[in-house]
Amino acid sequence: MQRGDIQHVHFVDVVPEIMAQLKQRLSETNGEDQAEILRPDVQWSVHCEDLRTLVFPELSVLPGQSGRRLIVIAGVGGDLMMEMVAALQNNNPGQRLEFLLCPVYHVFKLRSALAESGFGLLNETIVQDGGLFYEILHIATDSSEPLSSVGSMMWDFDQHHHYEYLSQLISHYERVAKGLGQQKVPMLAEYRALLPQG
Ligand SMILES: C[S@@+](CC[C@H](N)C(=O)[O-])C[C@H]1O[C@@H](n2cnc3c(N)ncnc32)[C@H](O)[C@@H]1O
Repeated sequence: MQRGDIQHVHFVDVVPEIMAQLKQRLSETNGEDQAEILRPDVQWSVHCEDLRTLVFPELSVLPGQSGRRLIVIAGVGGDLMMEMVAALQNNNPGQRLEFLLCPVYHVFKLRSALAESGFGLLNETIVQDGGLFYEILHIATDSSEPLSSVGSMMWDFDQHHHYEYLSQLISHYERVAKGLGQQKVPMLAEYRALLPQG
């Protein structure tokens, strides 16, 4: 949004009440209030649909624009998120899509599946909200930056909460490994390898 080349935002959810509430909020707010959600010059629409069925019209690209359609998906688990990304790709062949994803749970599996499907990294970051940690992945099929299953450019261990997040992931997979007995849990070694030395 800050990039300034977004003209129209389409909000999508399958639940009619959520879309009706959002529509009312967007219709009633203006000026500073609306700026909390959208820049006032950005057009918006709400759609009550299954994201997996969307077919996009061809994008008209102005000079200086990326030519990619940006899709933001937040708040769903890694498995459903992968299903959504794959469906959107299948339904829209030949379109340049980029995704900003904020999954809950199963991020390692999602990252691995996205990398296997040919996605590369544009950017990634860790955010902390209400005591919980989230990874935000900005990815595209035409990025040549490898998408790591455990994250690469997002880690900054000068920030204490990054260390805290990694410790939580390691503890979680240690418990999983313990539950599985002798079976190997490959992500555990990969997360441990990120720990700062010394
Ligand atoms: C936990 S909420 C997150 C809402 C919001 N994205 C956020 O991050 O605050 C997950 C939302 O995904 C919606 N959802 C789940 N499957 C969907 C699908 N196939 N198409 C569209 N929306 C879907 C649910 O209805 C629900 O409102």
